[in-house]
Amino acid sequence: MDHRIYDVIHRRRDVRAQFTGEPVPDEVLHRILSAAHAAPSVGLSQPWDFVLVRDTAIREAFHDHVHHEREVFAATLDASAARRFARIKIDGVLESTLSIVVTYDPDRGGPAVLGRHAIADAGLYSVCLAIQNLWLAATAENLGVGWVSFYREPFLGDLLAIPAGVRPLAWLCLGPVTHLETTPDLERHGWRHRRPLRDAVHHDRW
Ligand SMILES: Cc1cc2nc3c(=O)[nH]c(=O)nc-3n(C[C@H](O)[C@H](O)[C@H](O)COP(=O)(O)O)c2cc1C
Repeated sequence: MDHRIYDVIHRRRDVRAQFTGEPVPDEVLHRILSAAHAAPSVGLSQPWDFVLVRDTAIREAFHDHVHHEREVFAATLDASAARRFARIKIDGVLESTLSIVVTYDPDRGGPAVLGRHAIADAGLYSVCLAIQNLWLAATAENLGVGWVSFYREPFLGDLLAIPAGVRPLAWLCLGPVTHLETTPDLERHGWRHRRPLRDAVHHDRW
């Protein structure tokens, strides 16, 4: 048994505050993207694309949008949750070395995608597997990844000139970090705690 995959899985963290902004060598980026591109996909549709975003003006525009959406979410919280949320950093868009926007094209491999006729979301699952491969590969390379989802898809589609019908599923901040925390940020800030595995496992019936 090879323990290293388990080490990487448990070391992986969602990173916002620890990015250093140092460069990521091209060969490292290529290995990470190759890992993402090796993911399983329904009907071998490989419905993902990766937009590498380094441009400062684009990142600033996205950052402004994220902070507007942060306010939209904060306005839905009661006073105690709002106080806790105020202490939580939700992105490292400006501090990370680069960002990778991962998109989903539902038309890729169509019209008859093998295995998707009954579950349309199987295409989305495939892209999430590519994202997880990317995240674990980056962790194995001692880099941090932070998933930012405080955005409206039409805004990001316009910002990056994504073709109509293709959905931006994730904005991922990527780069070297000072360290990876051992506890998720949301637990450290008392927002929410992980539930034990035994509560998630069912036998024979729910
Ligand atoms: C689909 C998805 C969207 C997420 N969006 C955000 C986000 O917008 N901002 C943020 O700070 N973290 C985001 N996260 C990170 C989660 O908060 C994080 O994964 C969770 O708290 C567990 O921490 P860990 O990834 O370090 O184990 C997202 C994670 C996923 C899987």
